[in-house]
Amino acid sequence: MSKSFHATKAVVTGSSSGIGRAIAISLAKAGVEQLVVHYRSNESGAVETADALRDAGCEPVLLEADLASPAGRQALVAGSFESLGEVQTWVNNAGADVLTGEAAAMDFEGKLRHLLDVDVTGTILLSRTVADRLMNQFERMSSSLPASMVFIGWDQAPEGMEGDAGQMFGPVKAAVMAFAKSLAQTSGPRLRVNTIAPGWIRTSWGESTSDYWNDRAAGQSLMERWGNVDDIAKAVLYAADPANTFLTAQTLQLNGGFNRRF
Ligand SMILES: NC(=O)c1ccc[n+]([C@@H]2O[C@H](COP(=O)([O-])OP(=O)(O)OC[C@H]3O[C@@H](n4cnc5c(N)ncnc54)[C@H](OP(=O)(O)O)[C@@H]3O)[C@@H](O)[C@H]2O)c1
Repeated sequence: MSKSFHATKAVVTGSSSGIGRAIAISLAKAGVEQLVVHYRSNESGAVETADALRDAGCEPVLLEADLASPAGRQALVAGSFESLGEVQTWVNNAGADVLTGEAAAMDFEGKLRHLLDVDVTGTILLSRTVADRLMNQFERMSSSLPASMVFIGWDQAPEGMEGDAGQMFGPVKAAVMAFAKSLAQTSGPRLRVNTIAPGWIRTSWGESTSDYWNDRAAGQSLMERWGNVDDIAKAVLYAADPANTFLTAQTLQLNGGFNRRF
C-alpha cells in the first residue's frame, strides 16, 4: 500500500485482535507514524499488533484500559494525548465480545448489560471527551485539517435481525450509530465523524461457526462471501483520511451489499 494517508498520529480502540488490529496495521502501512494500540485484557494480542506496526515503520504505544470504567476512559484519553501530542484519527472500534469466551455463558440480561456498559456508555462517554480535545486541537491550529473520528456500527442494527443476537447487538449498535450522527452535527467543521457498519465479518466468532452460519454469511452478501477484516480496514481508512474533508455524518454499510433475495 502506498503511503497515501494524510495523518501521522492515530488511536484505534480495541486493536488487540480482529477488526481493530487490521485497522491499526492498515493505518501503519498507509503512513501513520505513531499509533495507540488500545486493549483491555489481551495483552499478547496487543503486542502482536504492535510488532506488526513496527514492521510497517510505525511506532506503537500500548495502552490498557477498560472502557466500561470512568478511570479506564480517563487513562486512555490522557495516555493517548500525552504520548502522541496531536491526534488526527481516532477509531472507536472496541466492543464487548459476548459470543465467545467467558461472557458467552452469561444470560441475555447479563450480555445486554455488558454490551450497554462497554459499547454504548463506554464509547459515548469516551468519544465525547475525545471529540472536545480534537475540536480544541483544530481551533488551536487554525490552518490544519480537522481530525476524524470513526465509529464501528452493524449493518443490520437499523433493520433488525431475529433472535437474541439481533435483540442485543441491534439496539446497542443502533445507539452507537445514532450517537455518531449527533456528534457529527455537534462538531462540524472542527471534526469529521463517520461510521462504518460491517456486515458478516469473519473474526474469532466466524472461525467456529456452523455450516448454517457460513452459508448465511455468504448468502446474505451480494458478493457471496464472508467479509474480512481488511474489507473493513479499507473503508475505515477512507473515512478517516483527513484529506477527505467533505466526508462527515455518514454511515457506510460494508457488507458486500445485503442480499434481499436470501
Ligand atoms: N465481527 C463482526 O462480524 C462484526 C460485525 C459488526 C460489528 N462488529 C464490531 O466491530 C468491533 C470489533 O469487533 P471484532 O469482531 O474485531 O471483535 P474482537 O476481536 O473481540 O475485538 C474487540 C476489541 O474490543 C476490546 N474490548 C472488549 N471489551 C472491552 C472493554 N470493556 N474495554 C476496552 N476494550 C474492550 C477487546 O480488547 P481485549 O480483547 O484486549 O480485552 C478487543 O481489542 C466491535 O465493536 C464489534 O461489535 C463486528
